[in-house]
Amino acid sequence: MKTLKLLIIILALSLPAIAGPDPRLEQFNNWKFGLFIHWGPCSIAGWENSWPLMRPLSKRRPGDTEEYYATLAPKFNPVKFDADAWVKLAKDAGQRYIVFTTKHLDGFCMWDSLYTDYKITKTPYGKDIVKQLADSCQRADMPLGFYYSTADMHHPYYRDTSKIIGDNFRGEPWRPEWPIYLDYVGLQLTELLTHYGKTAVIWFDAVAPLEEFDGLRYSRLIHELQPNTLVNNRLAVGGDFDTPEQHSPKGVPTNKVAGNNLKVINDTVAGTVPKAEDFRPWETCQVITKRNWFYHEDDHTFKSVKELIQLLADTAGKGGNLLLDIGPGPDGTIRPEFTERLLAMGAWLKINGDSIYGTTYGPLQNLSFGRSTRNGKTIYLHVFDWPANGKLQVDGFSGHVTSAQLLAGGKRLTYHQNGDKLVIDTPQQAPDPNDSVLTVVTR
Ligand code: GLC
Repeated sequence: MKTLKLLIIILALSLPAIAGPDPRLEQFNNWKFGLFIHWGPCSIAGWENSWPLMRPLSKRRPGDTEEYYATLAPKFNPVKFDADAWVKLAKDAGQRYIVFTTKHLDGFCMWDSLYTDYKITKTPYGKDIVKQLADSCQRADMPLGFYYSTADMHHPYYRDTSKIIGDNFRGEPWRPEWPIYLDYVGLQLTELLTHYGKTAVIWFDAVAPLEEFDGLRYSRLIHELQPNTLVNNRLAVGGDFDTPEQHSPKGVPTNKVAGNNLKVINDTVAGTVPKAEDFRPWETCQVITKRNWFYHEDDHTFKSVKELIQLLADTAGKGGNLLLDIGPGPDGTIRPEFTERLLAMGAWLKINGDSIYGTTYGPLQNLSFGRSTRNGKTIYLHVFDWPANGKLQVDGFSGHVTSAQLLAGGKRLTYHQNGDKLVIDTPQQAPDPNDSVLTVVTR
């Protein structure tokens, strides 16, 4: 009896170790590819939300005024918005989650918040966008995350709104009103987490110093309301994952150097591979054009399908997720240039998805020809530069190979292994113009 008791105690004590990695983070890591959507009344004007107003007055373009910005919300009427169509597009693109701007820097709420009139239900459109999107996502079994800006240009307790935005856009935490603004944030998070079903992520964004927000209070609140919701790192508590913006780290991020950092992960040394337990989950958010998060009709700097697929492979190769951003137009439609690119990625993923979803960073980090990802004993070689001589040479390969084949179509390939040098015989023609994947199984 005594031994049994002892055994139970030992078992209980070692439970966390047996339980292994956090399943919420494992799921997040497996998603690999998500859709970021930046949308709101500023999409009418082709503005990056409030950013043009944050410049010093002398650097503003003529006509860029607070008064002009205030005319946008009363005009917002995206009658062609179709939540099901957006969610279907994300599915067809092979995206496994969506993050939507519920409130960006301007403070405009895309849901029917009780605590402000600066919201979607007070526009000519009049319907709750977040609700429609949440319902569609639920129907389609698509995880939905909420981007929420703690900065709020419209809220008089975040900043003295009688001043120009350039003077106080970082907020005024020294004013006695500040705690009331913090309460407002708490109330809005509560609304978002109680009225819209399951929330995959609260994706904070900020321009004020993070310490001015009670990060612990909000992360506790979020987990009380929805224990499974992930929180990004833009709150002064580190969060569940890092969010390098418009770039990826050079190496695979580890817990040792990552942390509470908005824009840059302290780059790990390129080429090094951390132990699984030291890996720091991360997600790079990048725009589908080269410039803008929101809709700009005249922005034609679209990334090519090849760039996008290789970006996804590069991200997965370092264990990260790609949250690819689009800005829908003011009427609620998504421009064809975005749709085409997303569908082309989806078509590639349909064939090559095994080399992305559910994988982690590859064991080979400095490949001259492309990237590698890994799922258990299977290593995927993403070949961007197809060998002209019919021989793909992989240096520094440590496992013992039992088979090599093309992922698309499954054609078996002959190979030779000599020490840590692996040479795979490849067909003359690259099977895929963007990223041809080889599946290498090891013992
Ligand atoms: C940049 C943009 C901001 C956007 C954010 C997403 O900071 O200025 O508008 O929401 O990136 O990470």
